[in-house]
Amino acid sequence: MFAPDLFAGSRVLITGGGTGLGRMMANTLLAHGSAVEIWGRRAAVLEAAAAEMNAAHPGQAMRRVVDIRDAGAVDAAVQASFDEGRPLTALINNAAGNFISRTEDLSPRAFRAISDIVFHGSFSVTQAVGRRWIATGLPGAVVSIVVTWVWTGAPFVLPSAMSKAGIDAMTKSLAVEWGRYGIRLNCIAPGLIPTEGMLARLRPGEADPAAKTAAANPLGRVGTADDIGNLAAFLLSPGAGWISGQTIALDGGNWLSQGGGFRDQLAWGDAEWAAARARIGARTAADKATP
Ligand code: COA
Repeated sequence: MFAPDLFAGSRVLITGGGTGLGRMMANTLLAHGSAVEIWGRRAAVLEAAAAEMNAAHPGQAMRRVVDIRDAGAVDAAVQASFDEGRPLTALINNAAGNFISRTEDLSPRAFRAISDIVFHGSFSVTQAVGRRWIATGLPGAVVSIVVTWVWTGAPFVLPSAMSKAGIDAMTKSLAVEWGRYGIRLNCIAPGLIPTEGMLARLRPGEADPAAKTAAANPLGRVGTADDIGNLAAFLLSPGAGWISGQTIALDGGNWLSQGGGFRDQLAWGDAEWAAARARIGARTAADKATP
């Protein structure tokens, strides 16, 4: 979809880049000439992911074990990146944590298990990278992964919904505050793109959640690695240089289908529509016949 050298000379930090959506986006960027720095908490997982990436794109993937809940560790890690002489050119805030639970069942630690990663962690990384772009006079681009919950709220995942809404607010706020430094920030709000970690925590025990979600989606499918990789690449590319402060849904229009209230009609065929039209026509005729 893009020129293979679109990101030549770029170095993109991807939190949670060793698994799931982060790894998908890393692969797209690597395929278009970028180097990536993937962060995660588990050394062995990162090592395996980086080895696979470097096998396909020699020398282009580096890894760092960082827990983004620790703001001091985040700052030191970003400093180390810049000290290595190839400063970061972009950041993808992808690392997250989530599980479904009734809100009344959440303990304070349970709430913090999510908000420390998503809300505090995403801020820490964005601030640590942004302040170095500002200090060195370099431009930069940030893409953060949120969910359409930032617009609708979401029952049973309240700590995530609140934290992702915070990232959305950070994005809009900094798009204005840091625009003068040439720093752009945008969000992607993906629908279901099946990953093992997400399905285990948000759809536990469901036989085939991807098929169920696909059937209910306006475009009849779930998302793919290319879907999210391409949108992230576009938003980070120079061609998107005037796009900032935006949150873009990537879900086949699904979140819009929850409003309006006419979902049952998606299953109607010609016969149902003909019957409905006949009934409406009969009612209209009756109204007209009544003086
Ligand atoms: N329902 C309610 N409370 C839960 C819970 C659940 N399903 N799972 C954990 N908790 C509570 C625990 O009871 C504990 O609170 P307590 O000490 O007051 O009892 C608190 O949350 C922390 O539990 P712990 O097991 O220590 O969690 P953790 O911090 O080690 O791990 C995550 C939780 C979310 C951080 C972990 O699953 C993770 O690292 N996930 C990353 C990947 C991910 O979530 N991907 C999906 C993204 S969609």
